[in-house]
Amino acid sequence: MIYVLDYGSQYSHLIVRRIRELGVYAELVPCNISLEKLKQADGIILSGGPQNLSEKSALRIDKRVFNLGIPILGICYGQQLIAFELGGKVKAARHREYGPTEVTIKPKGIFSGMTKKQITWMSHGDQVTKLPKGFVQLGYSKNCANVAIADEKRKIYGLQFHPEVIHTLNGIKILKSFLQITKSKRNWSMVDFTKKEISKIKKLVGKDKVICALSGGVDSAVAATLVHKAIGKQLFCIYVDTGLMRAGETEQVVKAFKKSQRMNLKVVNATNEFLKKLKNVTDPEKKRKIIGELFIRIFERESKKIGGAKWLVQGTLYTDVIEAGVSIGKTAAVIKSHHNVGGLPKKFGFKLIEPLRDLYKDEVRKIGVLLKLPEDIVQRQPFPGPGLALRIIGEATEEKLKLLKPADKIIREEIKKAGLDKSIQQYFAVLPDIKSVGVQGDSRTYGYPIILRAVTTKDFMTAHWARIPYNILERISVRITNEVRGINRVVYDITSKPPGTVEWE
Ligand code: XMP
Repeated sequence: MIYVLDYGSQYSHLIVRRIRELGVYAELVPCNISLEKLKQADGIILSGGPQNLSEKSALRIDKRVFNLGIPILGICYGQQLIAFELGGKVKAARHREYGPTEVTIKPKGIFSGMTKKQITWMSHGDQVTKLPKGFVQLGYSKNCANVAIADEKRKIYGLQFHPEVIHTLNGIKILKSFLQITKSKRNWSMVDFTKKEISKIKKLVGKDKVICALSGGVDSAVAATLVHKAIGKQLFCIYVDTGLMRAGETEQVVKAFKKSQRMNLKVVNATNEFLKKLKNVTDPEKKRKIIGELFIRIFERESKKIGGAKWLVQGTLYTDVIEAGVSIGKTAAVIKSHHNVGGLPKKFGFKLIEPLRDLYKDEVRKIGVLLKLPEDIVQRQPFPGPGLALRIIGEATEEKLKLLKPADKIIREEIKKAGLDKSIQQYFAVLPDIKSVGVQGDSRTYGYPIILRAVTTKDFMTAHWARIPYNILERISVRITNEVRGINRVVYDITSKPPGTVEWE
């Protein structure tokens, strides 16, 4: 196992993912993790970070880690930290380096088998100016004398550039060399994980009853399917149809779980309950709160009907649980808190089964494919827990849902038909609370517009509005205004995030 110590780099998670892609299990841990824990690792990677070692507040490392005999790789700030802690010098560079940079390396050690000139990805202001005792220089660039350093005896390595970023053309090869040095086993595969997890759940649960809230999303779908493979009919799934789901979603869930897998699945039609509670509510945060609370109440009511369940399955992911102080995890947890059933286990004494706790989303999707879940579920774009209530500006009513749902369906169909569904990460319709004048079939109309929102993004924290070709935009516009009575205009949102958010509420 490899520990990646997080010094706050935007690429910290990417390092973990690359190592896992190479078949070795890696975990992102806070940089102040105890020495005792570090001793369990086969290799340690120190991430980059925004720190400056000339400042007192700069994040450091327990120096004893260098005497553990465990191979260590420092990346960017990680390299500077190694040099600094071991008696070298780090200074602000005269010329900062950002972006693709040619470096000259010595083709040995972690660079063995590579040519002397390499294109790497840099992003640094400081650099190592004096090497610590025992280190040699393994590479330089025009503006940086030490882009790679090594103490082969102690197996400690440093890189000023980022091997985890694809723009470092041989980055994966370098990480692979480091893994070979650590002698870690390449045994991290989703096939193995799935088998082990199923037998683990079987043992854990015994003859107990287990409940699970299915949402139609990939996380709860994969989590429930894994548990179902382990314990079959001892699993009871509850799907609360809030009426705020997209067109066709409830049917899809019934088909995938009840019909194909023959799961115990209870579909609770709670549309009226939700719409009643949302009457006259226009504030988005209030909508979220109301929907979240009512969801929990209904789930609680239904789980009591099942009776005697000891365990609750949750589709919690690695990015949700990662400890505080680790860069991306915190934000992901906040985003998710709106729609899960987090309040339940404590209140009712359920024990938790979280089979996806160690996994990233792409790993979860791989398991979804292995478990033969339908592509529409495995590749489903993110959809907020409070559903379409957030996409109807103002009060969410049945009448407005009838306008939004078919418009949203048309958008999804056309984006998919144009083959854009893989390159646009989220696309949907929004119904604003205004009307405008139009002319349709020789008569004047006074109807609602539909806002088309589509974004490309890596992590949903920042996003660009998607450059959808005009002919596709036209087709969407024509179809919506023709097919959805009550809509007489389609507008396209050309706002990135920031300053906008992905959702309108
Ligand atoms: P924003 O609108 O904050 O959205 O740019 C970023 C991502 O989060 C999703 N989102 C939510 N998901 N409950 C959720 O489960 C929510 O209340 C919620 N609000 C936004 C949004 O769809 C996008 O993928």
